[in-house]
Amino acid sequence: MSASMSKLFLFSRFSSIQHFQTLPKRAYATCVQTKALVYNEYGDPSKVVKCAEIKVDDLTSQSVRVQMLAAPINPADINTIQGVYPLKPDLPAVGGFEGVGKVVEVGKDVTDIKPGDIVLPAINTLGTWRNELVCSSHHVMSIPHDTPIVTAAGIKVNGCTAYRMLHDYVLLSKGDSIIQNASNSGAGQAVIQIAAALGINSINIIRDRPGIQELKNHLKSLGATLVFTEEEARTEEARKHLQSIPKPKLAFNAVGGKSVINLIKCLQPGSTIVTYGGMSRQPLMIPTASLIFNDIKLAGYWMSRWHEQNKQSPEAQQMIQQLCTWAKQGQLRPPQYSEVSFQDYHLAIERTMEGFTSSKQILRFES
Ligand SMILES: NC(=O)c1ccc[n+]([C@@H]2O[C@H](COP(=O)([O-])OP(=O)(O)OC[C@H]3O[C@@H](n4cnc5c(N)ncnc54)[C@H](OP(=O)(O)O)[C@@H]3O)[C@@H](O)[C@H]2O)c1
Repeated sequence: MSASMSKLFLFSRFSSIQHFQTLPKRAYATCVQTKALVYNEYGDPSKVVKCAEIKVDDLTSQSVRVQMLAAPINPADINTIQGVYPLKPDLPAVGGFEGVGKVVEVGKDVTDIKPGDIVLPAINTLGTWRNELVCSSHHVMSIPHDTPIVTAAGIKVNGCTAYRMLHDYVLLSKGDSIIQNASNSGAGQAVIQIAAALGINSINIIRDRPGIQELKNHLKSLGATLVFTEEEARTEEARKHLQSIPKPKLAFNAVGGKSVINLIKCLQPGSTIVTYGGMSRQPLMIPTASLIFNDIKLAGYWMSRWHEQNKQSPEAQQMIQQLCTWAKQGQLRPPQYSEVSFQDYHLAIERTMEGFTSSKQILRFES
């Protein structure tokens, strides 16, 4: 994206949008434009992201034209725009790591993708928040056309993250248990459902809020075995419920800070805690004794690194196929979400940055 983005001619239909470069007059008639959510500098996403018309690259013999259908707004997108994420697209950049699109045209030498294919990004920085894009055919991957669209939009990041964390750290068998915090997040809801599909118990910790029972019921409807608030997880009552299933040997942490203590208290000796997010912005609080006497192991997981290291591997393809099959069968549903149009992108960005919303913001695009 970076090389082509730096050449972009951008202009705006909207008075508030910055003009990166004005097109020469004659080019207006021939140039294909698309609407996109663009940022021209790193900073507060609610200020720096603008809706703009950008030029779509010309189709080459090796490229494909994709009409975007849906794309979520994830915390990693927000952190990238803030400039605090390890991936730093060249500016100006289009937001969005993941999403789902439909191929509308392919270059003459493209053989593995055809018009009508439903595709996910195959690279980390495609810039999915736009109506249309042209990219190398190697930068997208086809998925089964009957995969539900909103679920597909979240497979590449949260679906794959949940899948890998359940497969790559501890050998789990049917009837085993895992425990996680931020269980109502997109990733957390994917963990619940994939664990259920694999016959694994999930113990789920969430933050208390008004309407907590409704949220607990929702997570249970996805297949959660037990759901506790952070406060409940420390009670005798919770301990009794926990005795009804095997002690977990794997924990997923997306919060950090004190929340990790709740996970550690429930684990078997020798268990692994995989940290994949730090939503509290607090360092992990790990009791020293748990490392020395209980042999608790710590690991970190980053989906971008896994995709980078396993591009087009049979393992990656098998994972995507399996996630799409579960999605089609209704075993992997999207997290609770709100669909948002381009006009409402400000609201969607702000809601993603608020806590306690329990709703993934999904951008839907114009065809
Ligand atoms: N390492 C990786 O490869 C990878 C891949 C996917 C996701 N992630 C990370 O996983 C986390 C969840 O991502 P997502 O897309 O699933 O997010 P999401 O759907 O937007 O959900 C955000 C989650 O974070 C919780 N949260 C927000 N602020 C919090 C705070 N101050 N303290 C405690 N919890 C807080 C929310 O709980 P409330 O409802 O209580 O606010 C919610 O459970 C993010 O940190 C993301 O970067 C990492």
